[in-house]
Amino acid sequence: MKIVTIIGARPQIIKASALSRAIRDHYPTRINEVIVHTGQHYDEKMSDIFFSQLQIPQPNYNLNIGSGTHGMQTAKMIEGIERILLSERPDALVIYGDTNSTLAGAIAASKIQIPIVHIEAGLRSFDKTMPEEINRILADNVSTLLFCPTKAGYCNLIKEGFSSVKSERPDFNSPNIYHCGDIMLDNTLYFRDIALNNTDYKKRFGKDFVLCTVHRNTNTDNKEKLTNIFTSLLQIANTQRIILPLHPRTKKMVPLMLDTELQREIFENPNIEIIDPVGYLEMIYLESASSLVITDSGGVQKEAYFLKKPCLILRPQTEWIEIVETGAATITDTDPDAIMNAYCKYKDTENNRIIFERAEGISLFGDGNAAEFICITMIQALDSFFCD
Ligand code: UD1
Ligand code: UDP
Repeated sequence: MKIVTIIGARPQIIKASALSRAIRDHYPTRINEVIVHTGQHYDEKMSDIFFSQLQIPQPNYNLNIGSGTHGMQTAKMIEGIERILLSERPDALVIYGDTNSTLAGAIAASKIQIPIVHIEAGLRSFDKTMPEEINRILADNVSTLLFCPTKAGYCNLIKEGFSSVKSERPDFNSPNIYHCGDIMLDNTLYFRDIALNNTDYKKRFGKDFVLCTVHRNTNTDNKEKLTNIFTSLLQIANTQRIILPLHPRTKKMVPLMLDTELQREIFENPNIEIIDPVGYLEMIYLESASSLVITDSGGVQKEAYFLKKPCLILRPQTEWIEIVETGAATITDTDPDAIMNAYCKYKDTENNRIIFERAEGISLFGDGNAAEFICITMIQALDSFFCD
């Protein structure tokens, strides 16, 4: 079976490594994977670093699309992906998550009747002003095999009219949906020990800091929200070291959105370490060694949970609602009072330590073998798809 995998943005490169590893380790003669990088992310620290760290095969194709408006970027990707699909003629297209690369793959393949496998299907924020919400709804609706990482994702699809009955011969008009766990957990479990035992990371980063990431367009492109986030970080930095690997989008927007005085206070604050984006292993180390995570990233929210850290979510809602329901994360959006209240909830003010007891025993994200399940299911379902 030949599959074409579309990657483009940082989290997709990371997610794809789990499937490529499962293919390499368990199905090297059954699945032939052709990797297409759209080039949506292109900085060394947003792309190349992950191929070497996570042992991902180099892409067979790189479309080098780069940045642009949604329409321009997606259109160029569709054109490039269609050309490759017509020449490779794969049995299926694999797409991840909800980026413009995901949508471009979904449109290109569905119009030439190549079955689509959507990994991380069913997630919803119920906010159609988010570009990602549009991308994921459209991608789900043209997919043939939909793999949901969580129960909430699976239930969303059922509510939207997808059938829970598994067809023996799924096709474009009768897709199959599965609740299979999260391939990001596969990766965290696989790479955690390597990251934690790295003595360079220990020396470079230390421990017991607050880890923060910010990149969501609704935050970076809004003066009030970005100002609120950084003002709150300044307040936390009065008593706590903060490490902030800065996404290129945020790096571009900070000088445009924040007052000069606020920028000076942030960049000169000895307790706020703003660093370049880091590799996945460094990030797993940072998440593990931190005492609390503050983020608007979907992936980082989950990894904080996998690694048993409390998390403040800088968004008005989350697709990973189960984490909030356990009490391990709190939605604060960018309201400074909500951020400080949630921060204090997890903090023992007298001893300046984060206190956080998490209930154990529930597996919200599977058992770390989601990629293998996806491989087996693809082989079975797509064999029957082509058995005429
Ligand atoms: C994209 C995804 C978002 C995902 C995020 C992961 C969409 C609509 N958004 O957002 O869902 O959470 O990736 O990180 O697909 N830039 C660089 N170098 C790079 C990449 C980007 O400088 O290697 C800068 C450019 O100025 C670019 C901006 O970042 O315009 C935004 O990049 P883009 O890929 O459009 O969206 P992200 O915000 O990264
Ligand atoms: N990540 C990384 N280096 C960083 C920041 C994040 O390797 O400097 C990883 C992080 O561990 C997670 C993924 O990137 O696996 C999340 O991607 P991102 O936050 O860019 O996007 P999202 O998950 O919100 O779509």
